[in-house]
Amino acid sequence: MVGAVVLDRSGLLAGEGYHRVAGQPHAEQEALEAAGELARGGTLYVNLEPCTHPHRQPSCAEAVLKSGVRRVVISMTDPDQRVRGAGVKMLQAAGVEVVLGVQADRAVRLNEFYIKHRLTGRPFVTVKFAMSLDGKIATSSGESRWITGPEARAQSHLLRHAHDAILVGVGTVLADDPELTARVEGSEARQPVRVVLDSQLRTPPTAKVAGPNTLIATTRVGEVGQAETLVLPHSADGRIELGPLLDELGRRGILSVLVEGGATVHASFFAEGVVDKVHAYVAPIVIGGGRAPSPVGGEGIRQLADAIRLREVDTTRIGDDLLITGYLDVHRDS
Ligand SMILES: NC(=O)c1ccc[n+]([C@@H]2O[C@H](COP(=O)([O-])OP(=O)(O)OC[C@H]3O[C@@H](n4cnc5c(N)ncnc54)[C@H](OP(=O)(O)O)[C@@H]3O)[C@@H](O)[C@H]2O)c1
Repeated sequence: MVGAVVLDRSGLLAGEGYHRVAGQPHAEQEALEAAGELARGGTLYVNLEPCTHPHRQPSCAEAVLKSGVRRVVISMTDPDQRVRGAGVKMLQAAGVEVVLGVQADRAVRLNEFYIKHRLTGRPFVTVKFAMSLDGKIATSSGESRWITGPEARAQSHLLRHAHDAILVGVGTVLADDPELTARVEGSEARQPVRVVLDSQLRTPPTAKVAGPNTLIATTRVGEVGQAETLVLPHSADGRIELGPLLDELGRRGILSVLVEGGATVHASFFAEGVVDKVHAYVAPIVIGGGRAPSPVGGEGIRQLADAIRLREVDTTRIGDDLLITGYLDVHRDS
């Protein structure tokens, strides 16, 4: 997500642009084109370093030089290995004044999926769950629909829509038979890839996820309806190894994964240290029951000092529910 603004030499708005979709002109090119001759001697503001590799048009850094802009204000360098500071150097070498790092923290968050992918080859991982006031994600009989109110549920669909993939464990598929689609008006064209962790291929071919646009991560060779099966290495307990899975998703160009349960899968993701962000809804209902599951299963930690603590925590009220988000790790380049 890149936006650019051009001010003319007297500081008045001359042009703006943003990168609409992959394959379309970059933000700088749109803004410079809109500004035309007014760009000469002016300033370009952009949240990501101009690229140096030609795409459909000449590179953005070349377009900046051609425009005659005198000063460029950039939030962060581009972690793409083809750029990584080369855009800044090219501008400076040509005598353009470059100011780097303005609002860098906000720029990093804006493009956190892209940055993680470019730096590690793996998608950005968000664990999402909805729990009751007493920390349950289902009743003791396994019923989990619906814990949150309509506003939070509508927002969950927007969250799915914003991700490239949604991932669940086979336990959730067997218990709830979810569709795992983003039900957002106008979103029919772009649905996230559905990923199921299912080492023994227990997903029924009649399950709603057993259709196109689904990847069943497994350790066995076999077929599940129209879904694609992806055979991966397993750990000592027979479960899918998450590192190789995330590497493969990254290779397929998946920049972001929304992990939606259940408790067993969440436990693995936290234990393996592969979670970047948590998105937790808390609903003002009490479920009770010692056997009713909570969001993270497994063994858990023994000492509070070892608890996983979120950073950059944000709390929002959505209808009667509460949304708490926070980060586990920071991937930044500048
Ligand atoms: N309220 C909510 O937000 C919410 C969201 C989702 C689910 N739920 C509830 O959670 C319950 C299901 O949770 P669950 O814990 O039973 O099942 P789960 O976490 O959905 O799936 C666990 C299963 O996934 C497979 N798996 C393969 N690789 C794995 C790995 N690396 N790590 C972990 N699991 C792996 C394992 O089965 P194999 O060994 O056979 O592969 C494992 O038993 C349901 O009651 C559902 O309604 C609630």
